[in-house]
Amino acid sequence: MNNQLRPVQQVVRGQETADGDGVRLTRLIGGPALPQLDPFLLLDDFRSDDPDDYIGGFPPHPHRGFETVTYLLHGRMRHGDNAGHSGIIEHGGVQWMTAGRGIVHSEMPEQEDGLLAGFQLWVNLPAAHKMMAPRYQEFGVQAIPLETREGGVQVRVVAGATTAGTQGPVRELITPVSYFDITLPAGSRFEEPVATERNAFVYVFEGDVRINGRRVDAYSLALLGAGDAVGIEAKADSRLLLVSGEPLREPVARGGPFVMNTEAEVRQAYNDYRTGRF
Ligand code: CO
Repeated sequence: MNNQLRPVQQVVRGQETADGDGVRLTRLIGGPALPQLDPFLLLDDFRSDDPDDYIGGFPPHPHRGFETVTYLLHGRMRHGDNAGHSGIIEHGGVQWMTAGRGIVHSEMPEQEDGLLAGFQLWVNLPAAHKMMAPRYQEFGVQAIPLETREGGVQVRVVAGATTAGTQGPVRELITPVSYFDITLPAGSRFEEPVATERNAFVYVFEGDVRINGRRVDAYSLALLGAGDAVGIEAKADSRLLLVSGEPLREPVARGGPFVMNTEAEVRQAYNDYRTGRF
């Protein structure tokens, strides 16, 4: 049986913005063009070789009700939280942080010059798990398997599994998500099933591709429509993220770093944070 390839439903160009202490970044999900893509609440792309764009980092700030996924392509980030957890995310590594009922953390570049590049994705948690105990899943570049396919296509599997059986190190996901980092030489083609019930996007950060005939160039996010697979052709040497997740279909009440189901729960989060109950 042939796969039904998902068309491109919408192409989103990121919005330039700054967050933390003046970190310049491009927001693909979580901005006006695409406020959310259930279960994804935010996708930021940060990349700069100018220290003024990143050196301020993200000083201590809280989160509640979802997970932050930091995947670093270049540079190093030092992470620390109010529960005493600390560590460094190295280039090629991922930190999958489940904020659950609450974490106050800082994310600071561990370098004074050179290229810093990576992504932060926010994955929503269902109501039943929003107040779970915080936890981390952290993996270095060596722990992230690399699958090689015909035409020189390379797939780094951060989370989920490919049809060829390559399994990412991030497991025990509350909200089922697949997170692939795919390198496509010019002229190559990549095809992979993406379960019908999932929402999915492709974010191209190098090169120029066609998805079901539609052009998607660098720094563009393609929101995928209905179907059970994705087909991508590279017109130039390209690199992209293919991310899919099962939608939660729950009300989303958002207040800055807190994402709950109701406004009352967001107010409670602010109150708990102010009164030191994180
Ligand atoms: Co944070």
